[in-house]
Amino acid sequence: MQENVPHTGHGETGGEAIPHWHDPESEPMTIVEGEDATVYDDDGSAYLDFVSQLYCTNAGHSNEAITEAMTAQAERIPYVSSGKGNDVRDALADDLAEIAPGSLSEVYFSVSGSEANESAVQIARTVQDAPKVLTRWQSYHGGTAGAGSLTGDPSTRSTVGRYAATTGSAKFLPPLPTAFDADSPEDLAEQAADHVEFVIQNEGADSVAAILMEPIGGASGGYPAPPGYFERLREICDEYDVLLIADEVITGFGRCGDWFGMDTEGVEPDMLTFAKGVTSAYVPLAGVIADEWIGEAVREEGYDLGQTFAGHPVACAAGRAAIDEYESHLLDNVRELAPMLESRLEELADAHDVVETVRGRGFLWSVVFADPETGDPFVHPWASDDDDEENPVAAVREAAVDRGVIFSGGRPDVQILIAPPLCTTRAELERGIDALDEAISETFE
Ligand SMILES: Cc1ncc(COP(=O)(O)O)c(C=O)c1O
Repeated sequence: MQENVPHTGHGETGGEAIPHWHDPESEPMTIVEGEDATVYDDDGSAYLDFVSQLYCTNAGHSNEAITEAMTAQAERIPYVSSGKGNDVRDALADDLAEIAPGSLSEVYFSVSGSEANESAVQIARTVQDAPKVLTRWQSYHGGTAGAGSLTGDPSTRSTVGRYAATTGSAKFLPPLPTAFDADSPEDLAEQAADHVEFVIQNEGADSVAAILMEPIGGASGGYPAPPGYFERLREICDEYDVLLIADEVITGFGRCGDWFGMDTEGVEPDMLTFAKGVTSAYVPLAGVIADEWIGEAVREEGYDLGQTFAGHPVACAAGRAAIDEYESHLLDNVRELAPMLESRLEELADAHDVVETVRGRGFLWSVVFADPETGDPFVHPWASDDDDEENPVAAVREAAVDRGVIFSGGRPDVQILIAPPLCTTRAELERGIDALDEAISETFE
C-alpha cells in the first residue's frame, strides 16, 4: 500500500492466501513463473512440473496461442451474461461437440469441475425424475457440498459430510484388484460390474438417476478399468434405465492419449463433465456435454438455474485455442511418448521392491508403494489413526523436489501421481523419471 495513504484503520495487517488442501505441517512452494513444462519458484529455482499443477495445465505454462486468444476476446467484449447468447461460447460448444463421443453435443457450461458435476447430476435427476446418483469409493468429483457427497475419497467426504447432510448419493466398490477376489482382469471386470448391478437393485432401480464415474481414477490413483468393465456397465445402465455420466475433468483433452478417457473404452456415456484441461487451466471453465435428447429435454422443460461466470467469453476463447493446440500437436506428443513413459515406470517397479505397482494411461500414472514384507501400505491415511507417523511416500516427493521435479500425492497418500503437461519432451520425461528413481533410492536405501 502507498506510504502517503491516510491511516484509516484498514489494512493494518498484511494479507495472505490460505492454500487449498492446507496441511499445517508443510509449507507449500511459491511459484511465480512458468515456461512449457517448467515452473520457477520465488528464489528463481526451476522445477519440472510433473503434475501440471493440479493435472490441468495440459498445454504447458507459456502457450502463446491461448494467451493471445484470451487477450483478443477481452479486448472485443470481456463478459457476456451466461443467460444470453454469445458467439465465442457457441463456437466452443460446436468444437466440443466435434471432439466428444457419438451424439454428445449439447453443452451446459459451468466454472469448476465440482460445479460441472453438480450440474450433470441436477440434469440427470431432472430428466430421470429420480433422486440418487451412484459413485465409487476412491473417486474424486469435487469438494463443494454437492460434489463432495459424490466424491468417494474418505478424506474429502469426512471433511464435507461431518457438518452437512450429503444425501442423494450411494457408493459402490471400484474395479480395483484389492476390492475383489478375481483371477484375471476379465474376471475382475465381471465381478465389479455385477457388484454395481447388485447396488442398483438394492438402492431400487427406480430411485437411481445416474452412475457418475471417472474413466480412469484420477487423484485417487491413475487406475484404468479392467477390459470390458465399461461395456458391461453400459449394458447395466441401459437395462435399468440409469444414465452413465463420465467425469472427464482430469482425463479429458488428451491427458490419457485420446480426446476423452471414454474414447479409449469405446463406450458412449449419456453425459460427460469437463474442466481443467479445456483451457489448459489458463482461466476457469467447465461444463457438461450431454446427449442430444437430454439437451432437448432441458430446452423443452426450461432450466431455472445458472451461474454468473459459466461459459465466460474469455475462457471460451482460451478453450477454442487450447483445443487447436491439442489437435495440431499435443495429442500426438502424448501418443508418441506414452509407451516410453510406461516402460520407464515399469523398469522403476522392477528396480524397487517398495513399488507395489504402476498403473495409468497416456500422461496420467500412479506409482503405488507398499511394504514388501507385508504387502501393506507403509502408512495408510484412512486406516491409521497415528497422525505423527512419517509417510515415506511424502519423503520421496520431497527428495524429488530437491532434484528439481514436482510430483503429487494421491488420495490415499500411498502413491506418487505423475501427470506432466502434454508438451513435455522425451528428454524431460527421462529426467523426471530419473529423479523419481533416485528419490526412491535415497528414501528407502
Ligand atoms: C475427476 C475430478 N472431478 C472433479 C474435480 C473437481 O474439480 P474442481 O476442483 O475444478 O472443482 C476434480 C478435481 O481435481 C477431479 O479430479
